Amino acid sequence: MEPSTPREINYLRLSITDRCQLRCCYCTYWQDWQQLPSGEILSYEELLRLAGIAASLGIRKVRVTGGEPLVRRGVVNFLHSLQRTPGIEEVCLTTNGVLLANLASALYETGLRHLNLSLDTLRRERYRQITGRDNLGEVLAGLERAVALGFGPLKINCVVLAGINDDELVDLALLARDHPFQVRFIELMPTVSPRQWQQNFLPMTEVRRRLAVLGPMTALGRGTTDGPAQIFRLPGFQGELGFITPISSHHCRTCNRLRLTAAGALRPCLFGDAEIEVKTPLRQGASEVRLASLFAEAIIQKSARFSLPPSPFPLHSSSMVSIGG
Ligand code: 5AD
Repeated sequence: MEPSTPREINYLRLSITDRCQLRCCYCTYWQDWQQLPSGEILSYEELLRLAGIAASLGIRKVRVTGGEPLVRRGVVNFLHSLQRTPGIEEVCLTTNGVLLANLASALYETGLRHLNLSLDTLRRERYRQITGRDNLGEVLAGLERAVALGFGPLKINCVVLAGINDDELVDLALLARDHPFQVRFIELMPTVSPRQWQQNFLPMTEVRRRLAVLGPMTALGRGTTDGPAQIFRLPGFQGELGFITPISSHHCRTCNRLRLTAAGALRPCLFGDAEIEVKTPLRQGASEVRLASLFAEAIIQKSARFSLPPSPFPLHSSSMVSIGG
């Protein structure tokens, strides 16, 4: 059942938990956030079944996100099984890295190689300011362990925050000179109050201007399952730099992803509230064909709406933590 869509929707983001140890200043309004009761979160069996159905509709790449996926018990076994789901060619994990040092070796043994690590600063006090927790040491130890084990591609996600970490852009970029990492700078999305967003938003053009001191950047092409990052090589760099511009250059036309929330709903678009509930039919015993039709519906909705501009505010109504970014 191959839907004929103008672009290929081949990438699924699976949020496996809404829990996270960190309280990042840009992630959500924590005071409004209500943790889902565990029975409301899809079980691993349910997630694997849905991943298999997604694969039958053309999903090739699955990214496991949260919340923070590594806080969920059993995640290593889940990742092992997910990678063995027929049709899934690539499994990636997004993590804040706090628990990575301990789990890296077990994760590596599952066959997992692709890691995205969230890291917005290399300074301990600032890390505490941004995330609310004093965990930079653990994150850096996790990164070091991942490198030693041979994980790769290893991508570092850095949300640029004017007045908070924008004096560190060069230092963060240099991680990609000294290691084979892809360091990706991301524009702040309006998950925060309009006032805070205005204070902290820095457009990518400005980020790139400030990184010009590093030398000329050569653009690289994109693969078919690649996300919206624009990737560049620089002279003398082992790794690459990436720029993700959800605000200044919205990328609907190249967006190839679906999201499945921890609570079991498909979201065609991060910028819209539209959801297709999958958990209820799944738990009521829906057939493969019925579940596949829900995925197909999400893919069609996505294809039909690719020219809508994002609604700027608020993006926080269903917070990032339960969608998984
Ligand atoms: N703006 C940009 N990126 C965000 N993320 C979460 N919230 C935001 C936001 N408001 C992304 C970051 C982080 C990942 C887990 O989600 O890349 O590393």
